[in-house]
Amino acid sequence: MPCTVVVGGFFGDEGKGKIIAYLARREKPSIAARGGVGPNAGHTFSFRGKTYKVRMLPSAVLNPTTRLLIGAGVLIDSAILLNEIERFDVYDRTFIDAQCGIIEKVHIEKDNTENHLKHRIGTTGAGTGPANADRALRILRLAKDIPKLLLYIENVSDLINETLDNKENVIIEGTQGTFLSLFHGGYPYVTSRDVCASSICSDVGIGPKRVDEVLVVFKAYVTRVGGGPLRSEVSNEEANRLGWAEFGSVTGRQRRASPFNMDLAKKAISLNSATHMAITKLDVAFPETAGITEYTKLQNEPRKFIESIEAETGLTVILIGTGPDVDDVIDRRKP
Ligand code: IMP
Ligand code: MG
Repeated sequence: MPCTVVVGGFFGDEGKGKIIAYLARREKPSIAARGGVGPNAGHTFSFRGKTYKVRMLPSAVLNPTTRLLIGAGVLIDSAILLNEIERFDVYDRTFIDAQCGIIEKVHIEKDNTENHLKHRIGTTGAGTGPANADRALRILRLAKDIPKLLLYIENVSDLINETLDNKENVIIEGTQGTFLSLFHGGYPYVTSRDVCASSICSDVGIGPKRVDEVLVVFKAYVTRVGGGPLRSEVSNEEANRLGWAEFGSVTGRQRRASPFNMDLAKKAISLNSATHMAITKLDVAFPETAGITEYTKLQNEPRKFIESIEAETGLTVILIGTGPDVDDVIDRRKP
């Protein structure tokens, strides 16, 4: 803080939602602003026995004093957004940029019927690729063209920059993961936009000098959904045995899995100019760590795992996820 950008270091589903939900409760930022592609993201987090899912709103939604912003670079599915605003009862603190792109039925249809998108790339079917294509053609409608969204429109870039001028805390939320970047991932098995930290800042309308911390989130193992290469991929049976089996929160597909990949982690750190790391699901890789909230209580093996990542990357792991609840976290900056 004051300005922290959070991005995924692998292929999405690293657990950014939970990390952001934790940070929002702890730091109580004035603003959480979502960058990234759009509702192809699905962030899930549990808090005191209840599970929450967001696809459009920032994952900081649990902190009642945080204003929830969606940056101009992000695509909006109006039905999903309005449903989330209602579900979380955040009518008075949700603001979207006038220039957010709008996903229409035709984009969703295309995403779910075109062979290339549906079967070769294996998209989430949320309509984001076709909508971004129309945006590049400059025929996409924007939030300011949609009457039922007018209530929520604000100048997101101005709001964030003014809040930072006042020295208040802001979290900028990325979505997807570094290796789903249209520019830096394994094209064509990527999403329809760059999703590295610089693009996330651009999505919400701040420049690179504004950023104090770039937190890259890794999971203790790697997963990816859809097509494309995954080094050292394990079979579904092996993933089940290891407890790594996960199912997509947008599509329900079983995610493919592999062990933690240090080369990818190093590359993600460099692409995002990371200042710190978070590692999630340590309790899945090392069940004995479940629920631990103090670093000194970590057993030898999991501690060696964390320290080897720190030694290889030269960065500190400041947050470690040890369970599904937002508060199942080792926070090494906690006083
Ligand atoms: P699209 O972003 O829906 O066009 O999908 C392109 C590729 O990115 C597919 O492999 C998707 O599975 C993947 N993808 C997109 N968003 C996410 C995400 O939030 N988590 C994990 N994978 C994603
Ligand atoms: Mg997800």
